[in-house]
Amino acid sequence: MPDRMIESPALPPAYARIPWLKRLSTKMLILTAISVLVAEVLIFIPSVANFRLRWLEERLNTAAATAVLLIGTDSVSLPRNVQDDVLKALGAKAVAVRSGGDSRLLVVSEMPPQVDEHVEPSAVGPFRAIAGALDTMVYGGDRTLRVFGMVGDSDKEFELIMPDQGLRKAMLVYARNVALLSLIISFITAALVFGAINHIMIRPVLALRGAMVRFAEAPDDPSRIIHPGNRADELGAAARELEGVQTQLQRTLAGQAHLVNLGLAVSKINHDLRNILASAQLISDRLRMVKDPSVQAFAPKLVRTLDRAVAYTENVLSYGRAQEAPPSRRKVRLRQLVEEVEGLLGIDPAAGIEFENAIDHAFEMDADAEQMFRVLSNLCRNAVQAMSGDSDSSVVRRLTISAERQGSVSRIIVMDTGPGLPPKARDNLFAAFRGSARSGGTGLGLAIAHELVRAHGGTLELVESAGGRTVFALSVPDQPVLLEEARHALRRPA
Ligand SMILES: Nc1ncnc2c1ncn2[C@@H]1O[C@H](COP(=O)(O)OP(=O)(O)OP(=O)(O)O)[C@@H](O)[C@H]1O
Ligand SMILES: [Mg+2]
Repeated sequence: MPDRMIESPALPPAYARIPWLKRLSTKMLILTAISVLVAEVLIFIPSVANFRLRWLEERLNTAAATAVLLIGTDSVSLPRNVQDDVLKALGAKAVAVRSGGDSRLLVVSEMPPQVDEHVEPSAVGPFRAIAGALDTMVYGGDRTLRVFGMVGDSDKEFELIMPDQGLRKAMLVYARNVALLSLIISFITAALVFGAINHIMIRPVLALRGAMVRFAEAPDDPSRIIHPGNRADELGAAARELEGVQTQLQRTLAGQAHLVNLGLAVSKINHDLRNILASAQLISDRLRMVKDPSVQAFAPKLVRTLDRAVAYTENVLSYGRAQEAPPSRRKVRLRQLVEEVEGLLGIDPAAGIEFENAIDHAFEMDADAEQMFRVLSNLCRNAVQAMSGDSDSSVVRRLTISAERQGSVSRIIVMDTGPGLPPKARDNLFAAFRGSARSGGTGLGLAIAHELVRAHGGTLELVESAGGRTVFALSVPDQPVLLEEARHALRRPA
């Protein structure tokens, strides 16, 4: 059974609500009937015209045969009542025959005063035939016709004077029969065409619609995805497209459900982590009291790191959403910030990784210090992790951070001599959860860094990533200064 899509004709409930006249099937039925009728009318008119000429020709033939007979019996001496009977049978007023220069009026009754139309059936063109037929049907009935012409192979010309009443009556009967037949044919054709269109198009369209409605009711139910069958036409292609869209949508929905669950889990972990960090903060505060110089050296760093961690967790909780808080920007001394990043990384001296802070002492950038710290620590941590995994001890492992100002834009370069980004990470660059190519990695670091830089109106890009050289560049423009506010501040007395 190939076509399951066509096989499901059950109408969706909404279909019943479409008014009868507005349904596609009704429109198709009416349109087909009208088209067939128009075609029939186009055939009908010439066929009536043709009928008229044939009718007249037949009369002329009969008159000719009669005339030949009458010539043979010396017609002139025929009694008047016989002449009238012959004429009556012909439905004519007079019959004449012309041969060479000789013209004989064979039978004469009371001649009508005038002849209204002269017709030579064998010599009438199609347009004149149609015009004559319409004329007879609409205005005829009490006119006199003169029908003339050669008959068969004879060299005589025959002529018939007759009223058009009989002709008109025969034409009307013929027209009525043809019209009736046309109507029957048009309805039979319409029904056949309708049946075919209904089967080929409308039912599949309804099935497609039904599949959409059923899917919309429960988009997470895999059994509701349409089975497109193997139709090769446009509807088959549409059904396959729909299958693709529904599958994709279901995948996205599943991914989102996963994200929702993850978000909830993160909030819970975050909540409890904040409490644990708060206790660690208390303990580290006491460390500062210890007079030991080595403790005095690292205690402030520990306290600061814990403060930062508590601030993050609180931030996430208070916002309660995946989006970062908008940056609160100030002038930041970048060199100091990078020093703090270095401290946080805690690079093992035995790992042989050099950290080079190449930023000018005076370099300032306009940014949210905490967020910039997170951006740089994510980029640096990735670089350190990549270089630590590189087992070749002969290569130099160096992480360099430099910065320059280009007009109102601060451009920071994070460069390492590690192995470069693996293809998976490059293909999913900055996409949350998708780019991790490291065991134990979540694939969030670069996505977070990217989001934070974008929130500053800046860009983060991977400039280079080959074995031995990986370069990330981030450009952050200064905040635009509102001219009015700046002027106002200048005018204000200090
Ligand atoms: N400097 C780099 N050199 C080599 N590979 C890198 C570099 N930076 C990132 N990568 C690759 O990109 C991947 C994604 O990095 P990202 O920071 O987003 O996630 P992660 O480090 O795997 O996990 P986490 O969320 O814990 O940071 C990494 O797994 C790593 O393979
Ligand atoms: Mg990372």
